[in-house]
Amino acid sequence: MLGYVAQSKPNPARGRAGDDLHGASMDREFWLERWQRSEIGFHQQEINAHLQDYWAHLDLPAGSRVFVPLCGKSRDLLWLRARGHTVLGVELSSIAVHDFFAENALTPQAARQGAFERCKADGLEILCGDFFDLTPQHLQGVAGVYDRASLIALPPELRVRYAEHSATILPAGVCTLLVTMEYPQGEMSGPPFSVGEDEVRRLYAARYAVTHLHTKDILAENPRFRERGLSALREKVYRLAVRAV
Ligand SMILES: C[S@@+](CC[C@H](N)C(=O)[O-])C[C@H]1O[C@@H](n2cnc3c(N)ncnc32)[C@H](O)[C@@H]1O
Repeated sequence: MLGYVAQSKPNPARGRAGDDLHGASMDREFWLERWQRSEIGFHQQEINAHLQDYWAHLDLPAGSRVFVPLCGKSRDLLWLRARGHTVLGVELSSIAVHDFFAENALTPQAARQGAFERCKADGLEILCGDFFDLTPQHLQGVAGVYDRASLIALPPELRVRYAEHSATILPAGVCTLLVTMEYPQGEMSGPPFSVGEDEVRRLYAARYAVTHLHTKDILAENPRFRERGLSALREKVYRLAVRAV
């Protein structure tokens, strides 16, 4: 169950066109408040099934460094580490970062590094701060990305910035496993926002070969979305890979 809507208070001011900087800071406030109020219905106790089923499609060597943007306190970080990866996340909320280490009985070493607080333990590292402050130096050596529920967390104009910034900071040749959600946007306001395949291709196809790997109908297992009036709800999984020359 996704549960976003269970605790989400729609904010009509989010996602306005043409208010990029203001919109970005409102977006940060929105997410910080969600964590302060423990309104984190998006958090999954279980390891994400799509990650387990499709991670192998990235064909990354064990030991490679993996980046998890907007990671929350996702337990998927632990699964990636158990696969032999060193894992780097970025997350805005210090509550999320603190909870991730505490709930998994890890004692991180913490150090201030520019715009970020860097927290590290046992092959897991989370930069606590704003994704948009990341530079290529932070992501040196990253070979793969696991991106669940980042795009759908952001209003449309920030999604464009997000994809552009990702391209600026990620090393060349990086592959991504991307998990998004889509539904008729007119039936419900986000977040979670609907991010359809056409948008995924608009955001990424110029730089990556976009392969649709899987679609799952999830409306039946999310009754609250149905109560909010949704007639359809699907999760979609994609691989973004370097274009063959
Ligand atoms: C829908 S949640 C998904 C969390 C995680 N990927 C998961 O699967 O549980 C989106 C997360 O992005 C974080 N976030 C939002 N904007 C951010 C930003 N600009 N920089 C870093 N994290 C951000 C929020 O605090 C929240 O934890």
